[in-house]
Amino acid sequence: MLKILVTGATGNVGQEVLRLLQSQDCNVCAAVRNPNSAKQILGSNIQTVPFDFTNPDAFDRAFLQVNKLFLVRPPDLANIRLQIAPSLNAAKLAGVEHIVFLSILGAEHNRFLPHSKIERYINQLGIRATFLRASFFMQNLNTIHTEDIKVRGELLLPAGNGKTSFIDVRDVAAVAVRTLIEDGHQGKAYALTGAEALTYYEVADIFTSVLGKRVRYNPSLLNFVRQMRSKRLPIGFILVMVAIYTSARLGLAGKITPDTEQLLNRSPLTIRQYIEDYRQFWL
Ligand SMILES: NC(=O)c1ccc[n+]([C@@H]2O[C@H](COP(=O)([O-])OP(=O)(O)OC[C@H]3O[C@@H](n4cnc5c(N)ncnc54)[C@H](OP(=O)(O)O)[C@@H]3O)[C@@H](O)[C@H]2O)c1
Repeated sequence: MLKILVTGATGNVGQEVLRLLQSQDCNVCAAVRNPNSAKQILGSNIQTVPFDFTNPDAFDRAFLQVNKLFLVRPPDLANIRLQIAPSLNAAKLAGVEHIVFLSILGAEHNRFLPHSKIERYINQLGIRATFLRASFFMQNLNTIHTEDIKVRGELLLPAGNGKTSFIDVRDVAAVAVRTLIEDGHQGKAYALTGAEALTYYEVADIFTSVLGKRVRYNPSLLNFVRQMRSKRLPIGFILVMVAIYTSARLGLAGKITPDTEQLLNRSPLTIRQYIEDYRQFWL
């Protein structure tokens, strides 16, 4: 039976990938740093194996008899040569046949992005792969921005009036599962976006309408950095966030593609649907 190893298993996309793979005819294993805490998040019926990208001692066991790998780059790991490549070398040696890699929209245009480096490294190794180049996740709004929206009714981020083609991680995961299970996706790269591109003014209005309480968009860069610092977030993380929102401000995050719809045979989830489904996070 096909064995699929899922990395980033306790994260946004990995959790949903694992959930969807449960109903497929395959052997699924979650590669996790801490099996005990992972079981609390994932439930005890999910098979786990210890795995840390930065600890090669665990690679042989983790990749044993694995046919397919769902690869998520942890956001903290930016040195691809030292922190990601060793695990990919081990995957190759172990005979992994196909990698589905969670990449980022536009990775093919920016060689300095860690995702671009990983794509090229996988190609260099000669492992067949599918690159899922995803747009900005809606779920950032119920993780990084939850408190601002919940406590102050404020969507505070420096994206100006730029549009973003938000995608729901549930759609990213559904595409990932299809490309893992079905033949014909090797050697392909998909640009996964939602069906609409919205400004954060529009997103704030949808929050207001769905939650029944006023949510305002505040595009102040200074306030954003101050707020992030007050949460004691590392400066490197804050700078990455500023870079991401600046690219949206400059109009670089609004591209819409048909790939998600074609791969799911339905329209991508809308931001209104997402806010309705996740409303308890902000009330
Ligand atoms: N956010 C966006 O809008 C967006 C858009 C496109 C692409 N992406 C890309 O998506 C990826 C993140 O996906 P996500 O949001 O699903 O993940 P996430 O929620 O940030 O979770 C990160 C996962 O990585 C695991 N992890 C952290 N360090 C690890 C290590 N050293 N070894 C093994 N596992 C480790 C974490 O496990 P623990 O439970 O052990 O911490 C967790 O499961 C990033 O590469 C990001 O650039 C994000």
